[in-house]
Amino acid sequence: MTDTLHSADTATPRNDENWWRDAVVYQIYPRSFADSDGDGLGDIPGITSRVPYLRTLGVDAVWLSPFYPSALADGGYDVDDYRAVDPRLGTLDDFDAMIVALDEAGIRCIVDIVPNHTSNRHVWFQEALASPRGSAARDRYIFRDGLGDRQELAPADWTSAFGGPSWAPVGDGQWYLHYFATEQPDLNWKNREVRDDFLHTLRFWSDRGVAGFRIDVAHGLAKELPLVLPSQAELDALPIDGTHPIWDRDDVHEIYAEWRTVFNSYTPARTAVAEAWVKADRRARYASADGLGQAFNFDLLEADFDADQFRRIIDFNLAQSDLSGSSSTWVFSNHDVVRHATRYGLPALHGRDVKQGAEWLLSGGRSPIVDVTLGLRRARAATLLEFALPGSAYLYQGEELGLPEVAAIPDAERQDPAFFRNHGTDIGRDGCRVPIPWTNNGVSFGFGSALPHLPQPTSFGQLSVEAAENDPSSTLHLYRDALSIRGRLQVRGKLQGGGLEWMETGDAAVLAFRRPNGWITVTNFGDTPYELPAGEVLLSSSPLSNRVLPGAATAWLQE
Ligand code: NOJ
Repeated sequence: MTDTLHSADTATPRNDENWWRDAVVYQIYPRSFADSDGDGLGDIPGITSRVPYLRTLGVDAVWLSPFYPSALADGGYDVDDYRAVDPRLGTLDDFDAMIVALDEAGIRCIVDIVPNHTSNRHVWFQEALASPRGSAARDRYIFRDGLGDRQELAPADWTSAFGGPSWAPVGDGQWYLHYFATEQPDLNWKNREVRDDFLHTLRFWSDRGVAGFRIDVAHGLAKELPLVLPSQAELDALPIDGTHPIWDRDDVHEIYAEWRTVFNSYTPARTAVAEAWVKADRRARYASADGLGQAFNFDLLEADFDADQFRRIIDFNLAQSDLSGSSSTWVFSNHDVVRHATRYGLPALHGRDVKQGAEWLLSGGRSPIVDVTLGLRRARAATLLEFALPGSAYLYQGEELGLPEVAAIPDAERQDPAFFRNHGTDIGRDGCRVPIPWTNNGVSFGFGSALPHLPQPTSFGQLSVEAAENDPSSTLHLYRDALSIRGRLQVRGKLQGGGLEWMETGDAAVLAFRRPNGWITVTNFGDTPYELPAGEVLLSSSPLSNRVLPGAATAWLQE
């Protein structure tokens, strides 16, 4: 090993404390990435085998969604054991070998931590079930007595994030809180043992060479439930201003201050990024250097492909990162939302939920409302814009292939609890979790040697890595070229804090900005062709003719 990561021109020393500030982080959903042993589930050796691919793509880090032992009641976000690898996905030795391979390729590894809830198979929950009310074992979770003469009624009418009730009975008159699926009991973060155990987990993975953590439901850990529980309607009416009984409480940051002491006991300090669905102006608290250090901003992911919305979001988030001293994060796709190549082909959201497209999803993709070509054009344009922004970009596996959301999954093969708990009225998130196609042909298009755990459409063959390799105009080549140019222009960190300067374009549908080194990005959100300003063209998301940028396209220029 050398003491730098990546090739000489974009070298990041291994002890660089600021590597995350402008990192390109590639999210791997391990069970759908690469299956090395032919059981239909992606695994850790599968990831290791694809390190050369990740290296060529040019990402700085990978973030692994949960790979821990799990009954998969929620795609692995129901964790049985936080300090082990699901035996179907490999062993701890396989994990260590993956870290070595990634490190040799100059790629850091971030792992997902799921602290709001365990799975119901976790040894603690099993102990709680076997222990009486009032016991220390039950105190690790949130138990309440039921209402009614025989305590046969839920303590409150709260609904879970996946639909259905969020209190479940355990048979002795007590009920437990599960804000997500029934199999995901919420932990009691007032309990010192719970706190200490997670500190142990953070050290466990840090000691194995993990560079950072993605924190699931970071805004939900601290809870202060009154003796008499409010109704769901009353809960919904309470302001989320730091005092809400469940969400985004100010005291959640006491937990992260403890975590920070663990992160900072390593060299370089371990990093963390909060998944905190909070009001935009409260996000900076999670990104503070005394806490997790960085927080996801999902604003672009929730926006339409629209110049005004993009500009407002970019300005706001750059100002927020100045406030927190962190760097901004940019995300278009992840394992929870409709892939952006599809989203951008759907009718505009105008501020509605990103799960929109429900009509199309529910029709199994038969409804013609998606404009596939336009969706991909816009996705490519948006990504090129994203890569030029100050801050870090979080990519989701398969977006570099321009993969669409898969709507046509037979009900019998669906896995997402959101589908089951809503009796099929919410189709859930399986459509963005379909295994990656690596080759044009084969039983699972090179994902593995067996049928994959979620079915791939036949169209995946043409969208495979192999097909993209052979097509110079593919989205894969665009991503590689863009990341290589970005690496060179960023000169690792030197542009950090440099911000951007908006340029006058004379067209409300066209945004243009300049970075301090003369790197210019022009995005045409409309459909009227736009003449590019002066400068050498570095790259464009769609072909240009005579320096004219077509609609739904981005170009990079060097002044
Ligand atoms: C957020 C994760 O991204 C999602 O996939 C999961 O279902 C919930 N948290 C619950 O852990």
